[in-house]
Amino acid sequence: MPTVLITGASRGLGLEFARQYADDGWSVIASCRQPKKAKSLNAVAGDVTVMALDVDDLAKVKALARKLKGRGIDVLINNAGIYGPKGLTRDNVDYDAWGRVFRTNAMSPLAVSAAFAANVAQGRQKKIVTLSSIMGSIDSNTDGKKYIYRSSKAAVNAVMKSLSLDLAAKGIKVVMLHPGWVRTDMGGPKGAIDAAQSVTGMRAVIAGLKKSDSGRFLNYEGTEIPW
Ligand SMILES: NC(=O)c1ccc[n+]([C@@H]2O[C@H](COP(=O)([O-])OP(=O)(O)OC[C@H]3O[C@@H](n4cnc5c(N)ncnc54)[C@H](OP(=O)(O)O)[C@@H]3O)[C@@H](O)[C@H]2O)c1
Repeated sequence: MPTVLITGASRGLGLEFARQYADDGWSVIASCRQPKKAKSLNAVAGDVTVMALDVDDLAKVKALARKLKGRGIDVLINNAGIYGPKGLTRDNVDYDAWGRVFRTNAMSPLAVSAAFAANVAQGRQKKIVTLSSIMGSIDSNTDGKKYIYRSSKAAVNAVMKSLSLDLAAKGIKVVMLHPGWVRTDMGGPKGAIDAAQSVTGMRAVIAGLKKSDSGRFLNYEGTEIPW
């Protein structure tokens, strides 16, 4: 069966990815910051290996890649993400927090992708998926604000577009997905859909990815999102 590596699998969409792929019989490498505290993840049935990984810790990212050296990964999912402080305006931006959000949302997905690119090249499906957001779509921004989160997701789109071109020769497909507005800790209780619906949709999109899809920014139902 194929293998998937997921970051930020302790809760929310990452946890749901782990559940659904495990339920389908995949080998799931579910990484999270604090495995001992990840009760829901540890309870997922199936071929699930829970690994410790803070995606912002470059040394740990490289150490995990060394540990998994030689193991093919069909699908790598850069899911870990943070929103940062809410409700900031142009007059009270928290610039330190902005740096932290940028690190997790825009820089760490590249660090993780680079560290595991050799594993993905060894996998049969050769797919790298990054959870972006429609909030990163400059074209879709009609209501302003949210400087920190929006810019971090616009940045990760730019990063992943470059990566899609750089890894094309290895046959690796790289896509950015908007999961919808989902009822998780980040999306809040008013979200439009639940994690199961979002992940079911994203898994269908991932399953159907073709070479020509590499570098695209898609929503969980497979439609294109403008940059
Ligand atoms: N929910 C939505 O409506 C929505 C919409 C658009 C995009 N997204 C994106 O979808 C992804 C998942 O979101 P979600 O709604 O599931 O969020 P969530 O419920 O807040 O969960 C975030 C996950 O990321 C993990 N994480 C954060 N920083 C990490 C780090 N440095 N290293 C490793 N793991 C880290 C968290 O781990 P801990 O438990 O250790 O904190 C948690 O497992 C994010 O990239 C988010 O930006 C979500």
